Amino acid sequence: MARLLGMSYQVSPMRRRVLIVGGGAREHALGASFSDAELFFAPGNAGTAALGTNVPLRAGDPLGIAAWARENRVDLVVVGPEAPLAMGIIDHLSLHGISAFGPSARAALLEASKSFTKRLAKRAGVPTADAEVFDDANAAVEYVRAASRPLVIKADGLAGGKGTILASGAQEAVAAIQALMIERVVGDAGKCVLVEETLAGEEISFHVIVDGDTLHPLPIARDYKRLRDGDLGPNTGGMGAVAPIDMGEPLSGRILEKIIAPTLRELQREGIVFRGVLYAGLMISRGEPSLLEFNVRFGDPEASVIVPRLSGDLFELLRSPSSIRDVRARSSGASLAVVLATSGYPSAAETGAAISGMGDVANSISVHHANTEVADGALVTSGGRALVVVANEDTVALARESALAAAHTIQFLGKHYRTDIGKELELGTEKRS
Ligand code: AMP
Ligand code: GLY
Repeated sequence: MARLLGMSYQVSPMRRRVLIVGGGAREHALGASFSDAELFFAPGNAGTAALGTNVPLRAGDPLGIAAWARENRVDLVVVGPEAPLAMGIIDHLSLHGISAFGPSARAALLEASKSFTKRLAKRAGVPTADAEVFDDANAAVEYVRAASRPLVIKADGLAGGKGTILASGAQEAVAAIQALMIERVVGDAGKCVLVEETLAGEEISFHVIVDGDTLHPLPIARDYKRLRDGDLGPNTGGMGAVAPIDMGEPLSGRILEKIIAPTLRELQREGIVFRGVLYAGLMISRGEPSLLEFNVRFGDPEASVIVPRLSGDLFELLRSPSSIRDVRARSSGASLAVVLATSGYPSAAETGAAISGMGDVANSISVHHANTEVADGALVTSGGRALVVVANEDTVALARESALAAAHTIQFLGKHYRTDIGKELELGTEKRS
């Protein structure tokens, strides 16, 4: 018997023990893709409880998680969200001799500091939007007042998807600077801001598993960040996703060559070796990629359409990426995810709504829980993005239809979701290079 914060549970001697840090749809999707592993989630959600054991530890408690993983002889820790990575959870786990998938705190700066990344990208010759960095609000205001083009205002630090504002004119840009730097709506993440030129094109999420010099590109996905159909409304953490996005083989090669490899080389020059998943948010214009941002973890909801497409042993891939020759992914068909959000999301999400209809969803649909919990024996929402319904079909159009049927079937007060995920792909625009 081993201990689970006071409770005892049976340790199976044969099965590999995996601790997944986080409690969203990404962690549910990762957990569902392990075969023959005993799974623990810290803290998990109502959905992950059906796959393994939820451990009442916060993702933001790296010391507690490292101690628990050692005491409970965990074989692999997989870290989902960016915050614990930026706090150095991988460094703590390594010190304890625990095998973990994710980048060190220094490598996580690629996501935790947009100014660090912008400077590094410029040094490395990575194509990216021009930007000015400000830690003085007056100087930033003066700069945007003089600008004539639309600008993107970005908090330097981690802001949970709420730190980027697309400003159509000077007035909106000034308001964004006021909100980020003076009102500190995203806390200290807004101490410093980037004012960036606006890029046009098609956006994709390019994930690559990196282990030193080993690069395993994963299926290209698209994330739908705006709240409402037609790409309207504020940016969110993501309201849906599709994979694979087929933009032709040469594009993947160009992304590796122009964006990923020079970034990793520049990091190495600074003595930083990247290990984990590097997710480049890219704008593609006339077949050429430009870097919007790096994340140092799987996207959410992108993980729901990428990870289940991978074949092979996920445990081996994440424990030792360099020992895997190449990562195979299903190339046929389409995976499409629709996020069911609660009333008020993203600004003031309501929680505690009772969820029903889960049992009536077609068997072919996967429902990944994002923010759910069990209260008084009932399944309820516990955050803005509550559930992600995922359909796998032969075409994007069929996958969208199936996902929407499931989105309709599941009920909770205030539920809202986008109905146009993947719609532009049905017109054949995905076939580009
Ligand atoms: P980020 O906070 O950098 O992830 O940006 C969030 C979203 O804002 C991106 O996914 C894009 O949709 C949009 N965005 C960020 N930077 C730019 C840019 N320079 N030009 C156009 N859109 C951008
Ligand atoms: N879906 C965007 C992200 O995970 O950052």
